[in-house]
This record gives sequence, C-alpha cells and structure tokens, in this order.
Amino acid sequence: MLNKTIASAPGKLMLFGEHAVIYGYPCIVTAVNQRIYVSVNKIKEKKIIISAPQLNTQEYQKDLSKIGKGDIPKEVKFIEIGLKNYRNKYSLPTGINIVTKSDFSSKFGFGSSSAVTVALIKALSTLFENKLSKKELFSICYKTVLDIQKAGSGFDIAAAIWGGTIYFISGGKVIKPLRIGEMPLVVGYTKVKADTSTLVRKVGDLYRENKKEISIIFSLIGDIVLKAKVKLISQDWKGLGKLMDINQGLLESLGVGSIELSKLIYAARSLGAYGAKLSGAGGGDCMITFTPNTKFGSIKKEITKKGGVALDVKTHAEGVKIEKA
Ligand code: MEV
Repeated sequence: MLNKTIASAPGKLMLFGEHAVIYGYPCIVTAVNQRIYVSVNKIKEKKIIISAPQLNTQEYQKDLSKIGKGDIPKEVKFIEIGLKNYRNKYSLPTGINIVTKSDFSSKFGFGSSSAVTVALIKALSTLFENKLSKKELFSICYKTVLDIQKAGSGFDIAAAIWGGTIYFISGGKVIKPLRIGEMPLVVGYTKVKADTSTLVRKVGDLYRENKKEISIIFSLIGDIVLKAKVKLISQDWKGLGKLMDINQGLLESLGVGSIELSKLIYAARSLGAYGAKLSGAGGGDCMITFTPNTKFGSIKKEITKKGGVALDVKTHAEGVKIEKA
C-alpha cells in the first residue's frame, strides 16, 4: 500500500490557433521543460492540508466534508476543486497532505493551473491505486478547469498529460501527437500578466457583435493551423515564420495584441527572425519567434533591451509522470 506519491506535469506554449480553438478550430501546442511537482500523502485526520510555498500558501486546511464549499483562495482553487471532482467521481478514502513545487513562475502564462491539476490527479490516482487512462485523466482535469474558468478548450490540460507537441481540437475531440524535432524557438516574456478569462470574454463579445467577420478570422486561423501542422513535420521554419506573422495579424484583429507584445515581436522580426507572434490568450504573457540559430543571441538581447525577458525553453517535454511512488 502506498503512503506517498509525487507526480510532475509540464507547462505549455501555444504555437498556433489560440482563441479560434474555443470555436471548434484546431490548434497546435507544445509542452515545455518547466514542470510542476505535486506530492500527496495520506494523513489520519479527515482533512486536506495544502502547501504551495511559491504561492505563499502554507498549510491551508479544510475538512473533507467541506471540500469545494465556502470561500476558496485563488492559490489553492485548482487543487481543491480537483480534489472535489476526484472524490465525486472516485473516492477520497483518507485525509491528504499536498505540497506543490514549481520550476516556473505562474506569471509566464505557461499553464501552471492546468499542470498542477494534472499532476495532482495523477498523484492521487496513483496513491489510491486507481489506474486512469489518459482520456479519463483529461476528463476530470478539464472539468476542474471549466468549473473554475467557465471557458477554455483544454489544450493546456492535453499538453500536460500527453506532452510532446500535439494537434488538438477543443474538449479533447482530437489529440494527435506530432513527431517533430527540436524547434528554433525563442520566447519573450512581456512582464505583463494576462487574464485569460477576460480576453476570452472580450473575443466572445467581438464575435457576437460581428459574427460574419470574426467567423472568417477564426476560419483563417484554422487554415493556418492545418498548414503549420504540415510545415512543422517538414521543419520548414521559414514557412512557419510567415504563418506566425499571419496568425499574429489575425490575433491583432481579434483585439488581443498589446504594445508590450508588439515591441518584442517587432524586435525579433527586425533582427531577422523567420516570424513572431503572441502565444496564449494575448494582452501580455509571452511572444514566440522561430529564428535562424545564428540570430538567437542577438534576438534574445533585443528582447531584453525592449523591456522583455528572454526565456530559455525547451519544447516537446515529457507529459505527466510519476516521480516517486
Ligand atoms: C489561452 O492560452 C488560449 C485560449 O485559446 C484559451 C483556450 O484555448 O483555452 C485563448
């Protein structure tokens, strides 16, 4: 019988297709080599104890009978609602002590909430020797994200579970791993935290007011994703750069660009990147660029000069895994 398990799950970067993915179009996402670790152990008391030191949370406690009820601080929301959903679907036979540790800051927009949810459910199901398939894991984690955020395609959950680089359709209707080599990718963080729910709502309002026009934009983004999928497999970085620029133009027309993102995007383009775009909800967080290897150093420097932070990120990271059982 196990008493303690630790699971880890990777963060993600959206490569192509954000926002349109919510409306049924595909996207392409890669898992990154920055992980979140969740350790769970059984305790005698009938309660949960959550510590997330990097979020300044020490020993937040709740009785098992009250999980998911009352006020839940945002720092522990995904864990508590994840526990509730796990208990409702399976069972939580004992109290649990949970500790999280992260390789990355939750501010980058690398999907820390999804990664923590996936690592938690994987660790719990292993602790209670309840073998879940990837699809079952996806379903409970996606429900948790929807319970909290109300909207979302689940692409970040899929990246945390499957890892690698995947072609994805909302709700996990299609999750197709793509076999591609390391990408010549540079990531620039704007130092501005984006609020995904607000941006998704903003695009939703724009869509309702301009259904015909915005539908065309979503559909064009969908076409770009299909082209990008082929070009990623053939490693046509130049062609992919052009697609990034077009995708960025379409995202701008959805109103999710920002001055900080544009500064970094133009910095990369002006120094010879193949192309650049925002990654994720927009409004801040990160931009990504495919660039010739010889330009890596100068583009990173320019990103810093323009007020951003150049992040070293490796793509196609391994999906959720058990670190200790
Ligand atoms: C946010 O990182 C990407 C969006 O497409 C939301 C989602 O797919 O859940 C804007």
